[in-house]
This record gives sequence, C-alpha cells and structure tokens, in this order.
Amino acid sequence: MPPPPRLILATRNAHKTAEIRAMLGDRFEVLDVTSFPECPEIEETGTTFLENARLKAEGISRVLGGWVLSDDSGLEVDALGGAPGVWSSSFGGEEGNHSRNNERLLAEMEGQTERRARFRCTLVLAREGLAQANFSGSVEGRIIANSRGAQGFGYDPLFIPDGFAQTFAELGESVKNTLSHRSRALAKAIDFLEHSISK
Ligand code: IMP
Repeated sequence: MPPPPRLILATRNAHKTAEIRAMLGDRFEVLDVTSFPECPEIEETGTTFLENARLKAEGISRVLGGWVLSDDSGLEVDALGGAPGVWSSSFGGEEGNHSRNNERLLAEMEGQTERRARFRCTLVLAREGLAQANFSGSVEGRIIANSRGAQGFGYDPLFIPDGFAQTFAELGESVKNTLSHRSRALAKAIDFLEHSISK
C-alpha cells in the first residue's frame, strides 16, 4: 500500500491538530507546523475567520509547498455583540492564554441572562501559496457561569452545546468531534481533500 498523502496543518495548537487528526483517521499523514522549524509565524491581521484562515494556509504553503490546511476559529457570544470572535485567542490580554480568556469571559458574562453563543470554524486548503477552497462549520450552545470539565481546550469548559447537559470539556474529544464547529467544517472538506490531495 502506498503511504497516505501528506496534509500539513497551519497551526501550532496541539489540540486542533489532535482533533483534526482523529477526525481524518489514517486517510492522510497529518503533520502540523511544529514539525517544520523553518516555518514563519503568520500574523493574523484579518477581521474575519476566512481572512485569517486564508493568511495562514497561503503563508505556510508558500514556504512548505504541498497541501496545507488552516483552521481559524472562535467563540461568538450574543450578549457581547459577537465578541470575542476572531480575537478569541487573545481575549484575556495574552495570546493563547486560555485561563485568562475564560476569566475575562466569565467576568463579562456576570449577571447576564442572555447566554447564547456559538463556536465557528473556517478551514482553508491551500497549495503553493494559493487558497484552493474553504469550508465553514458552527455549533450553537450557551455559556455557563462556572467552568466545568478538564478535557479539550480554550473555552470548552464554559460551553454547553445545544441538546447536551455537559460542557465540551466534560463531553471529551470523541463526543466533541461528532458535533463541533471544526468537525462540521471538516466533514464538508473531506470530499475535496480526498479527491484533490490524493492526486
Ligand atoms: P485561532 O488559533 O486564531 O483560530 O484562535 C482560536 C481560538 O478560539 C482558541 O485559542 C480558543 O480560544 C477559541 N477556540 C476555537 N476553537 C475552539 C474549540 O474547539 N474549543 C474551545 N475554544 C476554541
């Protein structure tokens, strides 16, 4: 059997990589940019998930060649006018500091009765520096008042998806991967990935 085609993820977030790898199974050899120290840090200067996902996929594929998949994602909270949105990873003041992000979210939501929120994810697939396709997914739910659960990452301990009584951090990766924003975007991308990348 020939080796599976290689797909490089334009992320340094080990949780995103683990989720995407688990969902793609052994159809692809999934690596992320931590395997390529020569990869530059891509500045996320866009104002939408699509713009940022495109910057990352095109920027990394320009350097590495081959097929690159990026994920730009975040949480939109209705009571906060859609914030933190594209700024989800630095909401607490420090890029990638999930506990500070969650502390700020809890503080901003104190006393709020409107708790509706959703995660959104946009995936961009690029090759040789050019975006080839994009796919989006979202999952509706609500923000709770106290963090619950130890699995997952980011805002998972504060988010209960519709139809469930537990947070993503309590439900764990296998359940999260059946209904998350990321899995819904990836489900749309699968056909394209299988037909383009295997050639
Ligand atoms: P990005 O790396 O710029 O796409 O930022 C994504 C940020 O959105 C993460 O740092 C988290 O704060 C949040 N986020 C995205 N997806 C998830 C998820 O599946 N669970 C929890 N938080 C998420």
